[in-house]
Amino acid sequence: MITRKEFGRRRKQLMRMMGKDTIAIIPTASELLRNRDVEFPFRADSDFYYLTGFHEPDAVAVLIPGRPHGEYLLFCRERDPEMETWTGKRAGTQGAVDDFDADDAFPIGDIDEILPGLMECCERVFYTMGSRPQFDQRVMEWLNRLREGARTGLRAPDEFVSLEHLLHDMRLYKSRSEIRVMRTAARVACRAHIRAMQSCRPEMSEFEVEAELLHEFRRAGMVPAYSSIVGGGANGCVLHYTENNAALQDGDLLLIDAGAEYDCYASDVTRTFPVNGRFSAAQKALYEVVLAAQTAAIKKVRSGNHWNAPHQAAVRVLTRGLVKLGILKGKPAELIRNEAYRRFYMHRTGHWLGMDVHDVGDYKVGGAWRELEPGMVLTVEPGLYIPAGSRGVAKKWWNIGIRIEDDVLVTSDEPDVLSKAAPRTVAEIEALMADATV
Ligand code: GLY
Ligand code: MN
Ligand code: MN
Repeated sequence: MITRKEFGRRRKQLMRMMGKDTIAIIPTASELLRNRDVEFPFRADSDFYYLTGFHEPDAVAVLIPGRPHGEYLLFCRERDPEMETWTGKRAGTQGAVDDFDADDAFPIGDIDEILPGLMECCERVFYTMGSRPQFDQRVMEWLNRLREGARTGLRAPDEFVSLEHLLHDMRLYKSRSEIRVMRTAARVACRAHIRAMQSCRPEMSEFEVEAELLHEFRRAGMVPAYSSIVGGGANGCVLHYTENNAALQDGDLLLIDAGAEYDCYASDVTRTFPVNGRFSAAQKALYEVVLAAQTAAIKKVRSGNHWNAPHQAAVRVLTRGLVKLGILKGKPAELIRNEAYRRFYMHRTGHWLGMDVHDVGDYKVGGAWRELEPGMVLTVEPGLYIPAGSRGVAKKWWNIGIRIEDDVLVTSDEPDVLSKAAPRTVAEIEALMADATV
């Protein structure tokens, strides 16, 4: 878990970067209606949670560096014994101060009255525009109120600055405790994948296998970091398949992309294995290509390499492999140049990973691919997808969809694969599944 001290350090660091005469306004997510009287499980806004550790809806954090009466203010719901009977305990303003280290806290209902006054003394407002339109509107109203009051001596801030530049760069570099949390999330994801491999049988449905994943997540107190993808055969070729309701066929592969979320940090892991526990010759041949591509890409996850290096390595190995198997025809260099591989490999090799599955952080800096640095975590997830009916491709390859995805930490030395506990090679997978069937 991330400690209160670390949340405090993050706020201090952000305030140092913001400078004097500034204010940051950071609202959390709202509760979302699923259908009549039923809400989706609440998930805090990642930026807000990163700075507060506060996991209630209807809250706004305000940071005012150097303010003598308190730099960190939290607007939140008040205690309400009657409501708490229905929806559970709230921290309330006292809890915000006592348990979440706010210098001062106010009922969220008073924000319209209080916030313009706080903005008044500041020249710059740090705020993320565009992700919560209703809240954007209110921030504008507060600003306009100050502008209108200029005649009576009120002063409106001159500048709006997007908070993301500072905050998302902080989030890109993971601290030791963040890495510990992410390693735990990845370990549970691996356990889930192992359980899926052990329990999978022909004629089971995809959702039964999904239930095995959920079992491992929930028994560790975690939730899925995103909708699990459990796709057998042709469904493995659908990149964002989440229906998970088909029967698994003997002889097909099963692609599972599932990660656990722990204390708002994600893991993101994909494994592909045969429903019956044994790869066919064609499945094995393609699997080995993807595995070699992943291994080559992971090797490139080193401090000093640029962001695109793992992708380039994966594309090289995949393209050469496809040529060798007769699925692509031509010279690899040419097929890479004209991106012929994209017919079977249409996504990129990874993304930043952190509180969000597709985490924040720029991939390019000043127009060039960013250099990898210790503390960054990314996924490495090459794949090949050959749907039925692929023209010019022998039938034996049809309906094979393979992705292998791991979570990798950049260190000052070797890449550190956080999700290495889930079997990856043909031999490891077959051995695990054979053990499970005796
Ligand atoms: N699970 C989402 C992704 O792999 O990017
Ligand atoms: Mn991913
Ligand atoms: Mn994934």
